[in-house]
Amino acid sequence: MTSVASEPTRRTFETIGVIGLGTMGAGIAEVFARNGFAVVGIELTDEAVERGCGHLTHSTGRAVSRGKMSEADQAEILGRISFATDLSALAEADFVVEAVVESLEVKKDLFRRLDDIVKPETILATNTSSLPVTEIATANTRPGRVVGVHFFNPAPVQNLVEIVRTVVTEPAVLADVEGLVGTLGKNPVICGDKAGFIANTLLFGYLNHAASMFESKYATREDIDAAMRFGCGYPMGPLALLDLIGLDTAYEILDTMYKQGRDRLHAPAPVLRQMVSAGLLGRKSGRGFYTYEREDSPVVV
Ligand code: 3HC
Repeated sequence: MTSVASEPTRRTFETIGVIGLGTMGAGIAEVFARNGFAVVGIELTDEAVERGCGHLTHSTGRAVSRGKMSEADQAEILGRISFATDLSALAEADFVVEAVVESLEVKKDLFRRLDDIVKPETILATNTSSLPVTEIATANTRPGRVVGVHFFNPAPVQNLVEIVRTVVTEPAVLADVEGLVGTLGKNPVICGDKAGFIANTLLFGYLNHAASMFESKYATREDIDAAMRFGCGYPMGPLALLDLIGLDTAYEILDTMYKQGRDRLHAPAPVLRQMVSAGLLGRKSGRGFYTYEREDSPVVV
């Protein structure tokens, strides 16, 4: 008689914690709420919670105005998200993802504090773009249940999530997170813990090169962007994409990758540093390589 090996049962997740409700965190909270999960959004202050709510209302409102979502669905989605300024609100969360500032110390401190709050079986994740997931994981007493989950901007639109495993991530945890990402309608890819992971390692050399090309006045910003949009079919040109990502974020990612890999491709173009110092951060500050009326408004040339 032959026996049929049963599939290992995957965990089910109900409540998701999202820490940090900036552009990425709010986008991630929206993705989970759109897919039926109860979401607890955490921010540092009431004002930051207000801003996070603003992102969520604006993003779902855009779908309503495009006829992609009814007002009733919008209300239901937003109704699934509760907010708090205290991490203790995450006591019942099954999965917690942080999308706070890209600082190793801040993230490690957060993971240390989560130890006493979340359930033992809760899976913890960081949305870091380039910081070492292993170091963040080992700030916690259960590093086997910590992974990186790297969403792409805008999170409600981009269908990729990189799942980053460390040398101590438990295989069952990886499988559960892969399943969870699948339920969001996103494509999971799995990679090891190296700054930049798969996509940013490949993308940022290109973006950095475009910034250098602009800096050397080799071509105008419009022509650099047009070349890649119309010549290569990219949805947006590299300078417009840098504005979307945020020049401060882009600089930090490049700097971290360069320090880790010493690949000259990733040595940040000086113009990026200068623009960040001058407060030209891209869409979020109203000006980067282009000027914007609002964060998501069309380019005003
Ligand atoms: N939030 C939510 N939804 C948004 C959005 C936003 N900020 N921006 C656009 N959308 C939605 C629109 O509502 C629309 O949805 P619909 O098809 O359901 O109506 C859809 O996206 C297309 O938007 P638009 O028609 O307004 O504009 P485009 O067709 O020009 O698309 C874009 C805009 C989706 C941003 C597209 O240009 C694009 O995909 N650009 C490339 C983005 C990219 O490469 N992201 C990765 C950056 S790297 C990263 O995030 C890694 C990190 O570590 C830095």
